[in-house]
Amino acid sequence: MSVVDRSIVLIGFMGTGKSSVGRRLALSRGWPRLDTDAMIAAAVRMRISEIFERLGQERFREEESAMLAKIDATQRAVIITGGGAILRPENRVRLHVLGTVFCLTATLSTLLERLGRRSDRPLLQTEDPAATVENLLRKREPLYRETADFTIDTTGMSHDQVANAIEDCLARAA
Ligand code: S3P
Repeated sequence: MSVVDRSIVLIGFMGTGKSSVGRRLALSRGWPRLDTDAMIAAAVRMRISEIFERLGQERFREEESAMLAKIDATQRAVIITGGGAILRPENRVRLHVLGTVFCLTATLSTLLERLGRRSDRPLLQTEDPAATVENLLRKREPLYRETADFTIDTTGMSHDQVANAIEDCLARAA
């Protein structure tokens, strides 16, 4: 199957715009949008923050892997993952089976600015969220890099521009 026809998988740190960009791509392609966080919340019947609080991060990671395993790899879709989906090796393999993997990135200051606008991310409920972001990024960057087929730096870009950049990338790779 040509790269243009494969599902599009979005990975990347919290605040890189995966959900908004994924929504635009799903609309323009006319493909279903599969947002693993939303699917987990629906399956467990709790908000993500509640899952972390009441059941713990490990249980969330179990649900995340189970959800990725359950997605039909033969159906084309735009698949939006949570920022930690790349943590487990089996997920990293699975993401490639599911489609072409795009990693969205942004500079640290852009991420902090975007993440500061919302307070519902369980991993950032710490005394020093900026230090937490830096620390998580440092640990995860190699995994994002290893997993991505393509990386798009979204700093200074609108969601539409990022979606267009992904389409351009696929057109060039076809
Ligand atoms: C997480 C990112 C969140 C969500 C959960 C854990 C992470 O998704 O899956 O809070 O480990 O980075 P977003 O990247 O959509 O915020």
